[in-house]
Amino acid sequence: MDRLQDLLSHDRRHIWHPFTTDHEKSIPPEIIDSASGAILYGKNGNQYIDMISSWWVTLHGHTHPEIVRAISQQATRLEQVIFAGLTHEGAIALAHNLSGILPEDLNRVFFSDDGSTAVEVALKIAYQYWRNVGSPERRHFLAYHGGYHGDTVGAMSVGARSGFFGHFTDMMFEVTTLPFPFTWDGDSDITERERVSLAALDSWLGEFGHETAALIVEPLIQGAGGMRMCRSQFLRDMAARCRAAGVLLIFDEVMTGFGRTGQPFAALTAHVTPDLICLAKGLTGGFLPMAVTVCRESIYQAFLGTAFERALAHGHSFTANPLACAAALASLRLLMSSQTELALKNIEHCHRIRLLEGLAKHPLVGQPRVTGTVAAFNVLEETNGHSLVTGQRIRDFCMTRGLLLRPLGNVIYLLPPYCITQAQINTAYDLIEAGLNQTYKI
Ligand SMILES: Cc1ncc(COP(=O)(O)O)c(C=O)c1O
Repeated sequence: MDRLQDLLSHDRRHIWHPFTTDHEKSIPPEIIDSASGAILYGKNGNQYIDMISSWWVTLHGHTHPEIVRAISQQATRLEQVIFAGLTHEGAIALAHNLSGILPEDLNRVFFSDDGSTAVEVALKIAYQYWRNVGSPERRHFLAYHGGYHGDTVGAMSVGARSGFFGHFTDMMFEVTTLPFPFTWDGDSDITERERVSLAALDSWLGEFGHETAALIVEPLIQGAGGMRMCRSQFLRDMAARCRAAGVLLIFDEVMTGFGRTGQPFAALTAHVTPDLICLAKGLTGGFLPMAVTVCRESIYQAFLGTAFERALAHGHSFTANPLACAAALASLRLLMSSQTELALKNIEHCHRIRLLEGLAKHPLVGQPRVTGTVAAFNVLEETNGHSLVTGQRIRDFCMTRGLLLRPLGNVIYLLPPYCITQAQINTAYDLIEAGLNQTYKI
């Protein structure tokens, strides 16, 4: 016990946890000692079902033996090597395998370290592409209200309307944001909202299309903005307009990638091929930080030539780290197995039964929605402005009963690893319902 208290006091004294306020700090963080499958084991003996895949990264379950084996074997051979001027087998195999499962000619892979850098790289590629092909006037970016793309300056700029970055407005470049046609089960006005969004795009492209470099979107689900979902047809209509105007389309699949929407990528679920795609989080199965930005070959070709000015001047120390490549290769093998295909279907089925046909009837549940393995709803409140408290109450209720959630304001969502069992999903829904009832004295 003393040892636990010591650890916590050192944590409190020395660690700056992300997205943490003093209020949050007053609840001591749980020290997680180990994990297996969908379960996190606390040092104090408590267990938690990880219903958020540890910030949306854990794909097949914690400490999955095949990924553990792949990393440990790789560690005895080659742990890291400079990736400028040298290459290695793991990176080559990973780029090849990724290209094989991504749509069409998305087959040129640029490695980086996390979702934010994958986005930063996509923005830089899009920007420089137009300079390299002699259209430097195409320098403007389009994005969607509520979209979140990461915390570096470029990623913040295209996510400026996510509500996270008020302090940094002056650091960002200007981006035009379009309305996002968020929809849910039973929504009757979606056609009109989609029309409004597409009309805003038409209007912008009509006037400024020739000055626009790219449009970035989180396809099918805006994650951090509140698990806001849109329809595939909307993405197809939007993509067709971008193509007609010559505007590059960037899919930020940092969250939606690797099966979350039911197919390996939302691009496949929605039948839309973007020009660039950003992947991270689940890439290594959630074991190690790594990201990729993948683009069409024709975009890459514009960066070739004899003058260094044509090259993309971007690279990171750990680019294509061999341990992360080994983890990603093992994770991709698992992702493409028939077992995972079945698991994705089962998770979606459970969400549909428990949320859309069950919890959706609860008086405090609004806008229930499911896309693939992701389910979400809004807690309906009479007063606005207390959304942070709502989420925290439900989270605390569930945490003390062995379920890890991390609500986004008044949005409760479930985004489990694919090894989750039906019983664990049922436990989660039961606890969430009990939490709603207790918090609001129903
Ligand atoms: C859609 C999307 N893009 C980018 C990011 C940033 O990724 P990272 O936190 O790995 O930098 C996130 C993180 O949640 C995300 O959800």
